This record gives sequence, C-alpha cells and structure tokens, in this order.
Amino acid sequence: MDNKIQNLNLVDAYFRLPIEISHADNFYLVDTNGKEYIDFASGFAVTNLGHNVEYINNKLKSQIDKIWHCSNLFYNTELNKLAQRLVDLTFADSVFFCSSGLEAVEAAIKFIRKYHFEAKTGRNKIITFKNGFHGRSIACLSGCSSTKAKEGFAPFLDDFIILPINDLNAFSDIVAHGNIAGVIIEPTQSEGGVYPVDKSFLQGIRDITLKNNIILCLDEVQTGYNRTGTLFKYQQLGFEPDMMTIAKGMGNGFPVGACLVKSHIAAAITPGTHGSTFGGNPLAMAASNAVLDIMLDDKVTSQVLDNIKYFEQKLAMLKESSSLISQVRQDGLIIGIEVKTSAKELVIKLCEAGLIVTRAGNDNVLRILPPLTIAREIIDDAFIILQQHLIV
Ligand SMILES: Cc1ncc(COP(=O)(O)O)c(C=O)c1O
Repeated sequence: MDNKIQNLNLVDAYFRLPIEISHADNFYLVDTNGKEYIDFASGFAVTNLGHNVEYINNKLKSQIDKIWHCSNLFYNTELNKLAQRLVDLTFADSVFFCSSGLEAVEAAIKFIRKYHFEAKTGRNKIITFKNGFHGRSIACLSGCSSTKAKEGFAPFLDDFIILPINDLNAFSDIVAHGNIAGVIIEPTQSEGGVYPVDKSFLQGIRDITLKNNIILCLDEVQTGYNRTGTLFKYQQLGFEPDMMTIAKGMGNGFPVGACLVKSHIAAAITPGTHGSTFGGNPLAMAASNAVLDIMLDDKVTSQVLDNIKYFEQKLAMLKESSSLISQVRQDGLIIGIEVKTSAKELVIKLCEAGLIVTRAGNDNVLRILPPLTIAREIIDDAFIILQQHLIV
C-alpha cells in the first residue's frame, strides 16, 4: 500500500486509508492504480444500494437538466413528492428537509425546545444515552458521552442528561425529577460500538414519554432505509415515535437528511423559525425519490432479509473459529466485531487485502456496514479475507 499518499491541503480531521479512490463499480471501490476493494463500509452506511445504480443515476441526470436549486422560497415537484411519500410511509404528519444527519438532529433539538416553549411547560432538558452518537455540532456533541469527540470543544449546552441504555429505572427516576422536554435515542447505537438497544427498554421509554408529554425522537440516521430489515427500525418495535431523524441511506450518497414530526410538534414551527438553504434541494429530492422507488420493491426487501441471515451464519462461523474475536453484535446489517487486538491496524490490513471495513467505539470494534443488496459471492470473498486476518 502506498503510505505516501496524503493531501496537506486538507484539514486533518479524519483517519484516512492511504488510497485514492477514482471510481466505483457496483459493490467495489476502485483506486487510481486500478485496484479493487470490496466495499463493506458503504461510506458509513450510506450507499445502501451499492454504487452506480443505473436507475438512480438516470433519475439524477434527468433532474440535472430540469433544475438544480431553487431554495425554499418555492415548493418544488420532487420535494412535494418525497414529503408526501415519507408521510404516507411513516407515523409522521410533516417533514423538514436538510442535508445531513447532524442537521436533522439539530432540527429535532430545536423542535423539542420550541414545542415546549409554545406549550409553556418551562421544560428544556433532553435525555440522550451513553455511547450514543448524533453528529459533530456543539448541540449534538452536548448529548454525546465520548470524551474523545468532545475534548477541546467545551463549553457544551448544559441541558442534556446522558443516561445508560437499557436501564429503565434510571430513566424513570430522571423523568420523575421533571423538566424533561425530550428524548433522543438511536434504536441501535452504531458509531458508539454497535450496541442494539433492548426492545423492552425502548417500549418502556415510549410508555413513560407518552404519559409525561415528553417528545420521543428516534435517531434513525443510520438504522433507517432498510439497514435493519425494515424501512425504518421503529417499524419492528410495535410503537411510533413523535419525531424521527433520517439521512445517510436516504440519498444513497447524495447529501440529504430530514426530521419527521407529528403535527403537534410541527405546529410550533412557523416561517422564519428554522431553515436550511439546501434543504429540499431538487437534486437531493430526486435522488431520494429514486432511492425510495428501489427500497420499496419487495424483491429488494427480501434480498436484504436474506443477506441479514446470511451474514448471521457467516459471522457465527467466523466467531467459532477465531481466537481474536471476543463478541459479535449485529442488528440487521449493522455489524460490530469486538476484537482482542487493535481494530485500526486490522482496518489497514484488511484494506491492503482488498476489503474496506470501518471501526466503532474504542479501538476494539471492527464495524461492517455492507451494501444491503450485496451479492453472495462478494460476501463469500470478503469472509475469506476476514478469515485470513481473524483466524490466527
Ligand atoms: C445515528 C446518527 N445520527 C447522526 C449522525 C450524524 O450524521 P452526519 O454525519 O450526516 O452529520 C450519525 C453519523 O454517523 C449517526 O450515526
């Protein structure tokens, strides 16, 4: 691997693998030397349908010739269509569009505050959870427990309370002390180390928040768009949230996000109270509509479910024969392999061998976020590489 590749013109905010990607071929990334890499990261759970999806590319190409940008001074055709579809497909009564996950969460935080301001409840505290991740803005970091992500960026907002997951007593104790306006929780924590949250805990939170006029926001930025086997994770939980943030897989690589809300919350937001220049951009909306066309195809859903099972089997076999793996955690196609060695070093070695994976949590979790529709032969090839590096 060419360790010399670096670009000093870039702010050094990321751990980058020393390869320069030139293009992609379906489920492979290709570098400037023509070397192919199996993409088991999907650009951090974004390119859920793989790369160069002809149908999406064509929709985007045709939108490019119509209009790129018109701002929220107007409605636009693709915007209206996508909002209608998201409302029809979910619990939500209306949608606020933006361009990323953190912007969606930022909107959620503001909408929670504004709802309670208008309702004159005097509440402003928001509960988030240990190992949770909602983005890198000061507000999102305020609800994050990672000292590494926060170090050097203080002061943070002081109205966040960070609780452990799956501890309903701790949750109800805090609620009993009052002043809680909202809860923001990922149904499965991915960035924080891949920790699926107990269904009974989530249901407990829903019951308590409903009884106490507390807004429940599910952060489905990563779990959404079929990554856990249903379009949205909450559809497996047996209840509906009041609010949901989505992004990542929504545009299959086109930057787009959204905050979906029930009408009682939307009523607190009036013209001029929140906004985003690029939110609802016609290109982003066209890409998202094209993604939904594919995601809603039953054949795709069953392929995703098959792949989830196939990964379960392959992972069980890998774990069985590897002394380097301490635990495998999986929710659909969010997969965390806890290893007894440096995950960072493994990520580099796997890349050299032609497999792209990511890390999560501390340096002990290899994270696999494969494209949802990846072919079995490619999964098999990838597991051969994983075996070569995890079975010693
Ligand atoms: C659950 C969750 N919420 C929010 C975000 C922030 O999204 P973005 O990086 O698009 O700002 C992420 C990013 O990983 C995420 O996983």
